[in-house]
Amino acid sequence: MKILITGGAGFIGSHVVRRFVSTYPNYQIVNLDKLTYAGNLENLLDVEQAPNYKFVKGDIVDAAFIHDLFEAEQFEAVIHLAAESHVDRSISNPIEFVMTNVVGTVNLLNAAKTSWKGSYDKKRFYHVSTDEVYGSLGEGSEMFTETTAYDPHSPYSASKASSDHFVRAYFDTYGMDCVISNCSNNYGSYHFPEKLIPLSIHNIKQNKAIPIYGKGENIRDWLWVEDHARAIDVIFHKAKTGTTYNIGGHNEWTNIDLIRTLCKVMDKKLGRAEGESEKLITYVTDRAGHDLRYAIDATKLKTDLGWEPSLQFEEGLEKTVDWYLENEKWLNNVTSGNYQHYYEEQYQNR
Ligand code: NAD
Ligand code: DAU
Repeated sequence: MKILITGGAGFIGSHVVRRFVSTYPNYQIVNLDKLTYAGNLENLLDVEQAPNYKFVKGDIVDAAFIHDLFEAEQFEAVIHLAAESHVDRSISNPIEFVMTNVVGTVNLLNAAKTSWKGSYDKKRFYHVSTDEVYGSLGEGSEMFTETTAYDPHSPYSASKASSDHFVRAYFDTYGMDCVISNCSNNYGSYHFPEKLIPLSIHNIKQNKAIPIYGKGENIRDWLWVEDHARAIDVIFHKAKTGTTYNIGGHNEWTNIDLIRTLCKVMDKKLGRAEGESEKLITYVTDRAGHDLRYAIDATKLKTDLGWEPSLQFEEGLEKTVDWYLENEKWLNNVTSGNYQHYYEEQYQNR
């Protein structure tokens, strides 16, 4: 089977590419990525020479390019992760999010529809989406289920909600084989250091302030990224057409409790006195429209397909810290901007 994975040079995409390339040697995996600031081919050093892997640099917003790629490659399935993913950036530049997340997704749907000529037997379009489409929960015990009404608040979540609606429209209108999953916050290796956990690890290491928005009371439900990649694998292979699955870690933390826990782990790993890193916590202006709480009910995924998270958060957090401390070169290349030259150096003259 030939699968197009979009956004494979990003955080989650690189884990999905790695998993599919190494688990399914008979599949041909084509990773299409524009290599925005969030795309980093150094996330994939361990699979880039694999015979069943190919990288293509390109923009999903470019409809003609996407059409030609589908014609040339004759994909049988798409796992679509490419997106602008950072809420703060969506607040300062919403248009970019509309272009990539909405227009880009519709371009892919159109190209798949044309290429598959209305016949969806053994074809699949999988959209990887977010729990943020459901909006915000109160402090009680309510959770997002697959039937929770969409109520996005940020430009990012509005763009992802819109792209989910387009995917469902292609299922309902054209009968395309589509599946969607909506996942909670991921953490783990190769996470770009603009997001809360990797940014905090980086700042603690450098003895810099850890910015906490508002009072730090917002709640997120954290899932280890490799558990997400495994869920995508299971859903891709086993979900019935037209199905949606929520994916989450049953692992809610207020931001401030999470960062205090992270500070303790960092103190231990860096040989600092207990309480040293916590002194770096700095409360800053809150994010505009900041959703209070996300929590995923992933019962349907467990009941239908047997998926459950594999890792306790404390263990996952420690593994993540270890990874960042052991992979200084990766982090230095990201923070210096060197990672953006990898494509020119390694791919352009091939
Ligand atoms: P990321 O920002 O790390 O990676 C996004 C990738 O998409 C990058 O490699 C980037 O270069 C690529 N890209 C961006 N615009 C593109 C374009 N126009 N054409 C081609 N490629 C383009 O994102 P992530 O955190 O890995 O998220 C991946 C997907 O999972 C996104 O769709 C996101 O909405 C979803 N998601 C993320 C999380 C999370 O916690 N990070 C949780 C749930 C769902
Ligand atoms: O819920 C899934 C979503 O999780 C994904 O769809 C998004 O792509 C992903 O970026 C993530 O969104 P969040 O906005 O929840 O992640 P972020 O790491 O940006 O922020 C996590 C929480 O920490 C949030 O409440 C805002 C807060 N925060 C964030 C940053 C970057 C801070 O307090 N300080 C910070 O510096």
